[in-house]
Amino acid sequence: MAIQWFPGHMHLTKKAIQERIKAIDVVIELLDARLPGSSANPMLAELTSGKPGLKVLNKQDLADPARSALWLAHYNALPATRAMALDASETTPARRLISACHELAPGRSGMAKPMRVLICGIPNVGKSTLINTLTGKRVAKTGDEAGITKLEQRIVLADDFYLYDTPGVLWPRIIVARSGYNLAASGAIGRNAFNEEEVALELLGYLIRHYPGALASRYGIEMPPGATDEQMLGAIGRQRGAVLSGGRINLQKAAEIVIHDLRTANLGRITLETPGEFAAWRTEGEKVDAERQLKKKKPLCSTQ
Ligand code: G4P
Repeated sequence: MAIQWFPGHMHLTKKAIQERIKAIDVVIELLDARLPGSSANPMLAELTSGKPGLKVLNKQDLADPARSALWLAHYNALPATRAMALDASETTPARRLISACHELAPGRSGMAKPMRVLICGIPNVGKSTLINTLTGKRVAKTGDEAGITKLEQRIVLADDFYLYDTPGVLWPRIIVARSGYNLAASGAIGRNAFNEEEVALELLGYLIRHYPGALASRYGIEMPPGATDEQMLGAIGRQRGAVLSGGRINLQKAAEIVIHDLRTANLGRITLETPGEFAAWRTEGEKVDAERQLKKKKPLCSTQ
């Protein structure tokens, strides 16, 4: 899928992280619990490698609890990594976050050696909501204005606990094709940057395979075994009255309904990837990307 967006402050953010990372004890990465693998910024892994990491699966209220458990186990098995799931309804997540950071960097406490934590996450993952909950007040979104100093803000959670906030950025090139679809379906990518019909078809294809019950109870449509994503989208459009003159189904409208139903959990709690699936998609994506890069490097015609 050709997803196009402006990487925004990506380069400035990268520089800000590079400058800050040396004096950081723990990196908190906020992930979308519905797509933990796809919402992890590969650029961040490079920039922060070697630092203890706390993976926070946010929006757990929208995600499939059994799959969140799989992701938590996956991250907790990684070296120097802890994971926890959260949602916006949790009013006092600070204690859990702070104690997880202390477990990851036990030497840091007291005014002389305060805990220094960097918090990162893609746009719309819920970082401002979490920071507002942690601080008890409305904090402006980081990076709303250009310039490096505006790109980072320090939040004092306790006398010996500093949180450095960074702007939510997406990386410019997505090499895992399914990640593009999942990011678009979740709302991480602006609506002008993708084709809703294509995203809805991919989403329906996945739901038919993994959450047929959710589709049946939301739309009450009896589909024959082996029904395709296209047939499903058409049936949803018809059932919801998304019909154009002449009786043609308004597939754009049907696609918007499906995407909206995922985002609002009208379809129930759904997670669009498991650790195993994501690992396989990534291997495939890296292979395709390596071949693409190789092709780019090859001269267009040989001189011989
Ligand atoms: P960001 O700073 O990472 O860009 O994200 P932000 O906090 O602005 O949150 C993006 C959207 O996600 C907001 O919804 C917010 O309410 C919602 N959100 C954040 N955390 C959670 C969560 O744990 N569960 C659920 N279900 N939603 C969450 P919005 O519709 O864009 O804005 P609004 O309705 O809050 O005004």
